[in-house]
Amino acid sequence: TLYPALATLAAYLIGSLSFAVIVSRLMGLSDPRSYGSKNPGATNVLRSGNKAAAVITLLLDALKGWVPVVLVQQFGAAYGLGDATLALVGLAAFLGHLYPVFFRFQGGKGVATAAGVLLAFEPWLGVATLLNWVLIAGFFRYSSLASIAAAVFAPVYYLMGNGVAWYMAKPVLLAIAAMSVLLLWRHRENINRLLAGKESKLGAKKP
Ligand code: G3P
Repeated sequence: TLYPALATLAAYLIGSLSFAVIVSRLMGLSDPRSYGSKNPGATNVLRSGNKAAAVITLLLDALKGWVPVVLVQQFGAAYGLGDATLALVGLAAFLGHLYPVFFRFQGGKGVATAAGVLLAFEPWLGVATLLNWVLIAGFFRYSSLASIAAAVFAPVYYLMGNGVAWYMAKPVLLAIAAMSVLLLWRHRENINRLLAGKESKLGAKKP
């Protein structure tokens, strides 16, 4: 049937809502693609100095990853949607954030959206990965470093919690691994800045 493809397309379209840009526009702030790291994400919106806008961006970008996956979990069986579609839908929402059809395919780095997808896949996995982020961010004060560490550990946590050997890899594990690889790739400039000691600290304002 067409249902898996339709669900994946819908998730991609929802993921394409770049909330950093939308929320900033609605709140009368400058476009996050014009200052700081130029990244349309909550971390960069925080550099505008408006904490509320950053928190709203974070929540909405996470929600757009969470909602499509939960909808498939709740109602997918009636349409013959299984694990593969669940994994594809999560990955599609994430890809929408990175390559949004509504914003010339110039999206963000996927941290909040991946968190939403992980929380939907397995709540304990989302919480463990979020705690990992909070610990690193709290200690080192770099959002990017915390995101990089979380991306590395999310698949590890999944394997620890599910005991899935690589040769019986499940679609959800493949989706998590793909998100981690893409997320790290999107942070390549941050990695260079971190190594050069030039990364901006969490919450530091930057025009
Ligand atoms: O949300 C992405 C974060 O990990 C880094 O963002 O703006 O510092 O590149 P930014």
